[in-house]
Amino acid sequence: MKKDRKAERQRINQEIRNLCEKGRFTQTIRFMQHGDISVCEHCIAVAYLSVRIARALPIHMNYRALIRGALLHDYFLYDWHEKDRSHSLHGFRHPGKAVKNAGEDFRLSKREQNIILRHMFPLTVIPPACREAWIVCIADKICAVAETLHLSRRSYRRYVKWIKRNFKDKR
Ligand SMILES: [Fe+2]
Ligand SMILES: [Fe+2]
Repeated sequence: MKKDRKAERQRINQEIRNLCEKGRFTQTIRFMQHGDISVCEHCIAVAYLSVRIARALPIHMNYRALIRGALLHDYFLYDWHEKDRSHSLHGFRHPGKAVKNAGEDFRLSKREQNIILRHMFPLTVIPPACREAWIVCIADKICAVAETLHLSRRSYRRYVKWIKRNFKDKR
C-alpha cells in the first residue's frame, strides 16, 4: 500500500516536471481556481484523486493518459474571474481553450484530448468517450466541491513551492 502511494507520487511528479519543463504549467500557479486554490493545486488534486479512483477499479487503465489529462484539463491559462470578453461562458469554453493550449505545447493522444475536452460534462453535453475521461470528469467535480466549500486539506500547496523553486515561469 505504502509502496503503491510512493509509486503513484513518483509518476505524478514526473509528469508535472515534464509539463513544467516543456510547457507552461508553471503559469497555472498564478491563476486561482476555487477560493484560494490555484489552478495548479486543483489540477494536481484531480490527478491524485483520479489515480486513486482508477486503482480502486478492477479494469485496465492508461495511467499516463489519465495523469496527463488530469493535469492539463484546466490548461486554459487565464484568470477566469477577470472580466474580459474572451473569458465569457468560461464553463462551456475552457475545455476547448485548454486542449488548444495543451496541443501547442505537447503531443496529446486522442485519449488525453478527450479527457480535457469532456471534463465539463454534463454542462458541455457530449459525454466522455473513454474510462480515463469519465474518471477525470468525476474527480474534477469532487475536487471542485471540496475546494469551493473549503473542505480540501491544501495538501498540494507544497507543489507550488516546489515548482517555483525548480522551474522557470514560461509566458
Ligand atoms: Fe475545468
Ligand atoms: Fe477542473
